[in-house]
Order: sequence, then structure tokens, then C-alpha cells
Amino acid sequence: MSPTAEDPVLAVQDLRVTLPSRQGRLAVVDGVSLELRAGEILGLVGESGCGKSMTGAALLGIAPGPSGQVSSTAMRLGDLDLAQLDERGWRRIRGSRISMVFQEPQTALDPVFSVGNQLQEVIRRHRQFNRRQARTAAADMLASVGFADCARVMRCYPHELSGGIRQRILIAMAMVCHPQVLVADEPTTALDVTTQAQILHLLRDLARRSGTAVLLITHDLAIVEAICDRAMVMYCGRISEEGPTRALMQYPRHPYTAGLLAAMPRLSPGQVEPVKGIPGSVPAPGQRPPGCSFSKRCERADDLCRSQVPVLHGADPAMPAAVHRHACHHPLVHPIGSVTA
Ligand SMILES: Nc1ncnc2c1ncn2[C@@H]1O[C@H](COP(=O)(O)OP(=O)(O)O)[C@@H](O)[C@H]1O
Ligand code: SF4
Ligand SMILES: [Mg+2]
Repeated sequence: MSPTAEDPVLAVQDLRVTLPSRQGRLAVVDGVSLELRAGEILGLVGESGCGKSMTGAALLGIAPGPSGQVSSTAMRLGDLDLAQLDERGWRRIRGSRISMVFQEPQTALDPVFSVGNQLQEVIRRHRQFNRRQARTAAADMLASVGFADCARVMRCYPHELSGGIRQRILIAMAMVCHPQVLVADEPTTALDVTTQAQILHLLRDLARRSGTAVLLITHDLAIVEAICDRAMVMYCGRISEEGPTRALMQYPRHPYTAGLLAAMPRLSPGQVEPVKGIPGSVPAPGQRPPGCSFSKRCERADDLCRSQVPVLHGADPAMPAAVHRHACHHPLVHPIGSVTA
């Protein structure tokens, strides 16, 4: 059967990332399944230490250090079986079919090469282009991320540019080979609010125009609200809730999502409402309680929560990705008719 627009470009089942410890191997990513469709932006959100960056890196075949291990029961990028790739195979597709943008625009660019050089280097690594073709493609890409004077930007060195401009260039580098998937890990965290908004709109615009599917990793639900079509909430290496952004934010079922929402600063006329944080902090991978890993911070926790791991309710592979799912024994209840699933 030929692929349709509804087919996911990336489909991952039961992704696990493990690290060695004195207690045996610990799962920092513990059974994450996700699907991404062309042009959509999926937010992966949660507090620091929940396993978001490990998940993002694993999607590019990157394990945490030499003793970290990545596994899954299925991992496909279009017609390509990622689970079968060796390191050489990953190098061929990283930066071309699937690429990544990180939080730190400072360190991700090489200080000794001009922007033009670095951009052309990415193109020539993946495409059989001569210098002139690579230069033209680089200039075209810079124009599509909003630079008017591409020739001048190409001559610049990273230290001559602001954080926002550098991040724009990194996005250009990640997108220049027209990847099917872009993983953006906290791409705006280091930027001021205005620049942050510009970069987020650029990402949304690029995803829509190019059809690239974006996994946007963030600790900030306001960013999810601003640009994501769907969201997955991650806690202690697992997905605690997922669904269309609006449904998830208006009618959160999982107490952790509700806690993140309550911790979001909101402006009401004339004042900023006080923010209610979630008590406690994310336990380290070796200190997670049995059963639901959120139980020590949850007002609803009971013996069932403390003994049995809640599974994603409705996590049936045959169900459409737009479904709202939660992994909680005692989910929040909303008025009849207001909830999608
Ligand atoms: N190199 C490492 N060795 C051992 N544990 C690590 C390493 N890097 C991260 N971790 C742990 O793995 C967990 C997930 O980290 P990470 O994916 O970076 O979380 P996030 O991006 O959500 O902040 C955290 O608990 C962190 O302490
Ligand atoms: S399973 Fe229990 S402890 Fe976990 S989030 Fe739900 S109610 Fe809270
Ligand atoms: Mg991170």
C-alpha cells in the first residue's frame, strides 16, 4: 500500500533508554511510544530530569554515553527501519532525514568557521552538490528563515551574532536538507521573550511550509500552548498524558498535567495570579517509587497508585493519534461532553 498524508513519518513503539547503576540497569526513558505526521508539531513537556532530552537524542540514534543503551520494539522513519541502522547508517540520515536543534546556540556553532562555510559543509556532507550549488542552497535556506541579506550573514562568524540570530542559523542548518523530522530540544530557553516568540513562530512556519514534523521538547506549557498541535507530558521516563493541545490543556486528566498547568504564570487583568507549584521534585531514576512514580507528589495517591504502574488508558495502536490518553488510576473528571476520550 502506498503511504498517505495520514501515515506517520515517524513511528516509535516502546522506546527505552537505560543506564547502568549499582542497582542494575535503570530506565531513564521507559516505554515511550509516539507518532509524528508531516507538518505537525508535537510537544514533549515535563519538568527537568523527566527524560525528555534522552528521548529526543534516542530518536536520532544517540545513546547517553558509551554505556547507555537505546532499544524499541519498532522505530520507523517513513519506509526506513531505524531499528536496523548501525552507526554508519545513522550518520547518513542524521542531519538529512532527521535533525536536531539544541538549547545552546553558543556551543553548537564552530567559532572558527563562517556561517556560510558551516551551512555549506552540512549540505555537501549529505548531497552531491558542487560549491556553487551548495552556496545557492545555503543562501536560499537563510532567506527562508527570514534573513534579508544572506550574503552578509554567510560571511559572519558566530561570535559576531546575537543568540537569537545564532539559533535561527542553527535552525537553517537543521532544515537545509529538508528533513522529515526535526527534534528541537528547548530551542528557545536561552533567549529573551521576544526572540523566543519569533523563533517559535519560525519553527511553526517552517513545519507548515516544508511538511517537516517537529518534536518540540520543552519544560514550558506556555510554549506548547503557543505552537504545538499535540502534546505528550512526560514524568520519570514515561508518558503520563497525551492528546491534542487544547483538550490536554483545558481538560487535563492526569494530576501531573494539572500541576504543571497550575504552575504556569497567567496574566489576569491588572495582576499576575500567584503560581501554585507542584510540591516536591522529580525523583532521580534510582529513587522512583514503585507503582505510579508521581505518587509521592500527588494528593490523590492511594494504595493502588503506590503498588501498580498506571498504563496509558486507551493506548491502543489502532486508535487515531488525536485521542486524549492518560496514565492515572484516579484521573481528574470534567463535565460530561467536555472531554475528548
Ligand atoms: N550521563 C548521564 N548519566 C546518568 N544519568 C543521567 C545522565 N544524563 C542524564 N541523566 C539522568 O537521566 C534523567 C533524564 O535526563 P534528561 O533526559 O536530560 O531529562 P530532561 O531533558 O527531561 O531534563 C535525569 O534523571 C538525569 O539525572
Ligand atoms: S496514578 Fe495515583 S498517584 Fe499517580 S497520578 Fe494518578 S492518582 Fe496520582
Ligand atoms: Mg533536557
